[in-house]
Amino acid sequence: MSCVDVVLGSFYGDEGKGKIIDYLGGSADVALRATGGNNAGHSIEVDGEKYVFHLIPSGILNKGTLAIIGNGVVIDPKVLLEEINSLKEKGKDVSNLRISTKAHVIFPYHIEMDKLLEENRGGKKIGTTVRGIGPCYCDKYERSGIRVEDLYSDKFKDLLKRNVEAKNKIFTLYNYPLVSFEEIYKEYLEYANILKEYVCDTTTLIHKLIKEDKKIVCEGAQATLLDIDFGSYPYVTSSNPTIGGIITGSGLNAHNIGEVYGVMKAYSSRVGAGPYVTEQDNEIGDLIRELGHEYGATTKRPRRCGYLDLVALRYAVLINGITALCMNHLDTALKLETIKLCTGYKRNGIITEDFTTNEEELNESEAVYEEFKGYDGDISNIRKYEDLPEVAKKYIERIEEFVGVPIKFIGVGAGREEIIVR
Ligand code: IMO
Ligand code: MG
Repeated sequence: MSCVDVVLGSFYGDEGKGKIIDYLGGSADVALRATGGNNAGHSIEVDGEKYVFHLIPSGILNKGTLAIIGNGVVIDPKVLLEEINSLKEKGKDVSNLRISTKAHVIFPYHIEMDKLLEENRGGKKIGTTVRGIGPCYCDKYERSGIRVEDLYSDKFKDLLKRNVEAKNKIFTLYNYPLVSFEEIYKEYLEYANILKEYVCDTTTLIHKLIKEDKKIVCEGAQATLLDIDFGSYPYVTSSNPTIGGIITGSGLNAHNIGEVYGVMKAYSSRVGAGPYVTEQDNEIGDLIRELGHEYGATTKRPRRCGYLDLVALRYAVLINGITALCMNHLDTALKLETIKLCTGYKRNGIITEDFTTNEEELNESEAVYEEFKGYDGDISNIRKYEDLPEVAKKYIERIEEFVGVPIKFIGVGAGREEIIVR
């Protein structure tokens, strides 16, 4: 029996999960995605070629690795097919892809609904990726959603008709353009036909693979502070990207979980609205954005940037049971003259080390910082921890001391090989 190693985002997403997944997945037999949808964007650079994955586990790049999209994922089949085709064009084999029968399907009315809901939030916009993610999960929990297996069932036509009618009633109410059942039905039958060869009961498959002692790496999407329960609600995504979501989104049980890797950057970033205690909405933030190329892989939006928040990081460690951290962009953070670490939140004159998800409390919190010196030199060629400049080691060891978990992987550049493994 093997255990499944899980890679999760520790902050607000875009921590560079793709890079660590790529490193760990090199020797894996199976790559698994269990949560979210094409709101995720995981970039990997291999042999000078850049790949961006939204739905397919990036482990598919490794020859022979089985890539599984689990039941917890919401699938836009159009996006999935684009991803499959783009991989095929680059000469990659996708016959190893497996899609859960139980995954829910995103339809055009979900995307329209996402737009409509955002428009009607007025000054309280979430800044969603407008990929229909929230509305699709809504239908899932309302129990009117359409699962992958339904696309192949006699009931599909009826199910879709009822959903389209219900959505059009709401669109009418808001004076919003209606969607066409006929068009969607025809389009989705075609998608279903092409995707059929990949569809199976992935839960049964995963447990067989575990029994066969296969090495499985689960690729988390989104991140702890975007979690619907544990994030900064309502500025979150509509699923549980934390460890619980990995379990329910795949059919794994708690005993199947092995290492839990928390991915983070040496600084921080956030896309979309919501509180962000260590944000630098100033020239420091602008500098981090330019140095770290902090623009969305999915929506191309400029990311909000700031210092690393250890109060939030320790919370992520607790919620997920993170056993080791993976830190990206050390090279970027060191380029700052002064790097700061947030080690407390100050509210009403009182300093606390406990994270809060309460919106008002987060907005009132002022970050308490410890300062570190940057480094005026190139570290991208360093592969041994001992060879890092003293300032970098001090920074890393303070983080470890505060959160109580070792930083096992350190990214020192964007390339696949630019990583220090301890
Ligand atoms: P990866 O996997 C960063 C954010 C959106 C928005 C909020 C809700 O690349 O780290 P949604 O479309 O999910 O309803 O949007 O969540 N968000 C992400 N931010 N990285 C992601 O994924 C994200 N997925 C969702 O920007 O604020
Ligand atoms: Mg992203």
